[in-house]
Amino acid sequence: MPSKYGPEEAPVIALLSETENPQEIIPYIGSSPAESLAIRLEYLAEGGANVVYQIRTDPVKWSRAVLQRPLSAVKGHRDASTCERIQDEVLRLRKAPGSSKQSYVSTTAAEDYLEDVIAPSLGGHEWLIPSRKIRVHPRVISACNKELILHQALGNRPDSREHSILEESELFGLLMEDMSGIRGSSFTIQFKPKWLSHSPNASKSARRCRTCALRAMRGTEGMAPVGEVQCPRNLVGDHPDNSRLEILQTLRANGIPCAESKLRERLPDVLQDLTEYFYSGKGRTILDKLAALQEQLDPLGIVKLRAQPGGMSSQQLKDLQLAMTFRDCSVYVRYHWDKGLEGIETRVGDLDPKVGESKLDEWHDIEMGLIQGGWYDGIEELSQGQAQDTKCSLWNPPQPSKRYSERIDELMKDFNADLEVAYKSRSSDECSDG
Ligand SMILES: Nc1ncnc2c1ncn2[C@@H]1O[C@H](COP(=O)(O)OP(=O)(O)OP(=O)(O)O)[C@@H](O)[C@H]1O
Ligand SMILES: [Mg+2]
Ligand SMILES: [Zn+2]
Repeated sequence: MPSKYGPEEAPVIALLSETENPQEIIPYIGSSPAESLAIRLEYLAEGGANVVYQIRTDPVKWSRAVLQRPLSAVKGHRDASTCERIQDEVLRLRKAPGSSKQSYVSTTAAEDYLEDVIAPSLGGHEWLIPSRKIRVHPRVISACNKELILHQALGNRPDSREHSILEESELFGLLMEDMSGIRGSSFTIQFKPKWLSHSPNASKSARRCRTCALRAMRGTEGMAPVGEVQCPRNLVGDHPDNSRLEILQTLRANGIPCAESKLRERLPDVLQDLTEYFYSGKGRTILDKLAALQEQLDPLGIVKLRAQPGGMSSQQLKDLQLAMTFRDCSVYVRYHWDKGLEGIETRVGDLDPKVGESKLDEWHDIEMGLIQGGWYDGIEELSQGQAQDTKCSLWNPPQPSKRYSERIDELMKDFNADLEVAYKSRSSDECSDG
């Protein structure tokens, strides 16, 4: 990642003025306050273990304090007009563990894992989001926490993430390339590829993959939430319709940020480009790589591993944890409007180590539930009136059938209706991006 700092001058995110007044907490980036740039950290998004901030310089010369900023209005989109952004980077800060059962993974541990384990497994850094560790002043973290609590009270945080705050003892954060799209020139979709290869614990005749079986068991059929695919096996399927269906579903699940109103006219082209890219292009390369790693690293599955006399060896444990990291990572795909197929960029993120005994218990319990409940084989007991979830590509004949094209047509129709509504509600406001 291009950096204006030499390797020796580790930049810090710290405070411009050391004051007790929280209104005057001004973070800066640089090696000392004298040679620094005042910044604002603007909440972009959060997951279970991290909060991600966009870094901006403040045009009003730092007069606004860190606590007075609104949360970013449009998730996943840069708004270049507010103020200048620094180096296209975001800051990823770690949350405190939610319970005593959870193990804390520090920024340093996450970064070491990325360098020492993930990068060699993926054959280098080509697919990784460029990132580097940065020292963060504890007062910046506590100011961010005050803001998180404030915005929780205002109902501005996702319900599932409430009550989580940043780890105050953490000394570092991760600066990463901002993968968001830029209004008018690109958009980004993000998804977790999940279980691209079949679960080694499922029977050979299973009618659902691990991801679909879990969805069926949890009864969450319907549109996949942002960042989740419907059936990952479609992404590594052997017919372009598999990919097309999954991409369309993912595009729709990612919502329609206002800058993407161009999608209304160009949806068929975008879909075609992304389908080609993921079915037979460069996008397929990384998905196949992830699928192969998932399979090689976890050939037995947690149920058989735990049933072995003597339990798991330490190497088996490390491999299983790595396989789980590759199942839970996020894929960011940036599409540049003026470049089409040629300009699609893909990077993989959220590659933190999966540590802790409680995670192993959770994975084991899920597998047992899926096997014993008949969710893999599609022989589960349904409650009265409950429709069977048959969305998995394993449920369908190997060649996509009429069913696939019908589902694509249906989704396309729904998506166009969404776009129409979004376009109407936005055509009169500042979201018209031309
Ligand atoms: N480099 C990036 N560029 C743009 N947005 C990002 C970037 N990294 C993370 N994000 C946003 O922040 C969110 C949370 O980041 P991330 O997935 O790394 O956190 P997490 O806590 O590990 O999530 P999870 O609970 O899925 O493990 C992402 O879903 C994405 O929307
Ligand atoms: Mg994560
Ligand atoms: Zn499936």
